[in-house]
Amino acid sequence: MSDVPEITPEAVDDAVAAALAAIADATTTADLKAARSAHTAEGSPLAKLNARLRDVAPERKAEFGKLIGQARGRVNQALAAREDALAAAETAARLEAERVDITALAQRARVGARHPISLLREEIADIFVGMGWEIAEGPELEHEWFNFDALNFDEDHPARQMQDTFFVDPVARHLVMRTHTSPVQVRSMLERDLPIYVLCPGRVYRTDEFDATHLPVFTQFEGLVVDKGITMAHLKGTLDHAARVLFGPEAKTRFRANYFPFTEPSAELDLWHPTFKGGARWIEWGGCGMVNPNVLRAAGIDPEEYSGFAFGMGIERTLMFRSDVQDMRDMAEGDVRFSEQFGMVV
Ligand code: PHE
Repeated sequence: MSDVPEITPEAVDDAVAAALAAIADATTTADLKAARSAHTAEGSPLAKLNARLRDVAPERKAEFGKLIGQARGRVNQALAAREDALAAAETAARLEAERVDITALAQRARVGARHPISLLREEIADIFVGMGWEIAEGPELEHEWFNFDALNFDEDHPARQMQDTFFVDPVARHLVMRTHTSPVQVRSMLERDLPIYVLCPGRVYRTDEFDATHLPVFTQFEGLVVDKGITMAHLKGTLDHAARVLFGPEAKTRFRANYFPFTEPSAELDLWHPTFKGGARWIEWGGCGMVNPNVLRAAGIDPEEYSGFAFGMGIERTLMFRSDVQDMRDMAEGDVRFSEQFGMVV
């Protein structure tokens, strides 16, 4: 057995030194495992020296046994110490790699914002729902009869002209994009039981320019009440209440005589805006009046028994002077930076 070394203190020291060097060099637990098997497992120099104990003269067995036992003890101790150190280092490295900074601000998705017209439309609806009214709706693509005829417009009323109204092909079908929310008055009177207290918010269409104060598509809210004994005082009180809720306790309304085919008497509705940017002032807000008896009749309601009032305002206009928006086009263009200024209300 020429590859088997003699047991000498030098041979043992060499084997231990080689083992300790390999252990010290191991920088990973995998390296250490390799060093353990190379220096302690079967076939390693220490194992071979240990095997030689068999051949040692009986009187020297204890001496050599102790020598090898101590050597193996030192190597095992070094292995254990290195193993602990490497395990700790590897855990530390993994913790560092997987570190989560729980104090960092979370990367949130931007939540966007609802459009201020939708918000104001709901706020207005809430004012009337709060008084026990119902919300009524009608189609945006409307029959000419609802948009004009039933509302007492003459055959040759200027609003019927091509330059004001979007007629839909073929013209013979008499369909228009509704020019106001007033056709919902007629639909409500035909569909509902009396008395009627409805608010009709919705989109309307006119062949207007697209500029700072006009949009060809905009939003109105229409109010309609039909009941016994309804007078203009009810109309005024209702509008003053809505004005105060929207513009503060000093807000109020005033009427200026005007003409609409579907109301009689009719009035232009002005709003006293107490917190207007350039100072408190009157601003034209919409139209209103007592429902024309012809309109009641067209809907099968007896004007001798019932009377009613109606009003209609633009929501873009309302937002414009409530929130000091200078250019209506900002409301149509859909830039979220515009909407965000009105907050994240949902
Ligand atoms: N529909 C009218 C408009 O759009 C406003 C209005 C509504 C007037 C109700 C009187 C009564 O100009």
